[in-house]
Amino acid sequence: MTIAAKPAAKPKQGHVEVHDFAFSYDAADGPIEAAKGVAIDVNPGEFVSIIGPSGCGKSTLLNALAGFIKPTAGTVTVDGVAVERPGADRGMVFQQYSLFPWKTVRENVEFGLKMKGVDVHNRQRNARTLLGLAGLLPFENYYPERLSGGMKQRVGIVRALATGPKVLLLDEPFGALDAQTRVIMQQILTNMWQRLKISVLFVTHDIDEAIFLSDRVYCMTARPGMIKAEIVIPLERPRHQSMMMSSEFLALRRGLVSLIREESLKAMGGEINEVALQGLGIETHGESLADVV
Ligand SMILES: Nc1ncnc2c1ncn2[C@@H]1O[C@H](COP(=O)(O)OP(=O)(O)OP(=O)(O)O)[C@@H](O)[C@H]1O
Ligand SMILES: [Mg+2]
Repeated sequence: MTIAAKPAAKPKQGHVEVHDFAFSYDAADGPIEAAKGVAIDVNPGEFVSIIGPSGCGKSTLLNALAGFIKPTAGTVTVDGVAVERPGADRGMVFQQYSLFPWKTVRENVEFGLKMKGVDVHNRQRNARTLLGLAGLLPFENYYPERLSGGMKQRVGIVRALATGPKVLLLDEPFGALDAQTRVIMQQILTNMWQRLKISVLFVTHDIDEAIFLSDRVYCMTARPGMIKAEIVIPLERPRHQSMMMSSEFLALRRGLVSLIREESLKAMGGEINEVALQGLGIETHGESLADVV
């Protein structure tokens, strides 16, 4: 008799929906329209990335989802409830390390649980379980100053996960790490995402990273950021580094590189400033920025 394996239950929570999102900053010389008409969704348990040129509003969108800022227009909801303030249902990981320097690794991770009123026994048990998953248990009593960049970011991820969020928001979390550490961090994140069955919205500048990690990738336009394209990543899981050399991966990469290149050129002004170049004594031949980069 053969017994069919029971299919893993699909997560039911962590549905992110953004409709017609716009946000303008009030600057001294007038409003700065960071994003407009943005529509995205992340299904429960899905891993979705956002890529786009610098300044196109990616962090702005994530900050609205985290509840740090309110949309100028449009709606941002998680499981149908409008996001109005930060909450334990959403965890955020920032690019810059944001640990409390006066707290140990475990105390940093326990912080959110303490705020939620979780008793000391359960706080410690939950923190130690997650630290173990991230390979950080030997360092639980270290202060952040003794940690490498990769270790700090791992603590940041564990801290964001400690309160049991339904959605994890990550804003270029691996941007400052070397290539080797980055690959290890990607594996740790994937592992935690699969075990905890949460939804992930991941901002990155790295196209390979976006393809390797994601179920879908949104590509944004230059500011004011809008969604230019949505690309489904049909690569099977579990994913391995060797897949990055496959023709399927390279075709996805080619498509995304050209989308991003177009928008990055727009974000940089698009045209070469011939007068400025000639002023610097550099000869120009009427080429555009796209011809030389
Ligand atoms: N506090 C602020 N005041 C005024 N303008 C701001 C402020 N924060 C961001 N901006 C502007 O809003 C736009 C979007 O910024 P945002 O940080 O969301 O971009 P981003 O896509 O995350 O860029 P990067 O990839 O460089 O991190 C940018 O043009 C930026 O200059
Ligand atoms: Mg940003």
